[in-house]
Amino acid sequence: MFISLSTFTVANDTHELVKEAFRNRPRLVEEAPGFLRLEVLSPEDNPREIWLKTYWTDEESFKTWYKSHHYHDSHHGIPKGTKLVPGSVSVRYFRLVGE
Ligand code: HEM
Repeated sequence: MFISLSTFTVANDTHELVKEAFRNRPRLVEEAPGFLRLEVLSPEDNPREIWLKTYWTDEESFKTWYKSHHYHDSHHGIPKGTKLVPGSVSVRYFRLVGE
């Protein structure tokens, strides 16, 4: 299994709208080969921060989706005016060690 963790921090007051967009997300990623599941988290100590965990069968599947137009289509609903804290976007990759 391959896990990608994307984190970013919304700089302005659209963070609740961004969360709403995640609740109503287009669910296109479900069609991507190798996609297993998605979790959207926000830490209690900073509600403007968003953590996106996607689970994939393998790294290649994630990278193919990340480079595809489906990735861009999945982001059409980002609320207008959303600004990110500069330098806050990070993508890190994980292997599952145990459960
Ligand atoms: C950094 C790498 C990122 C990855 C890997 C990623 C991944 C994803 C995935 C898997 C979905 C669900 C798509 C679907 O349902 O088809 C999604 C949706 C979404 N993402 Fe991202 N994302 C990233 C960056 C961002 C950033 C920087 C923002 C800034 C606000 C953002 C905002 C959203 C929003 C609001 C949605 C809900 C769907 C929509 O609005 O159309 N994402 N993202």
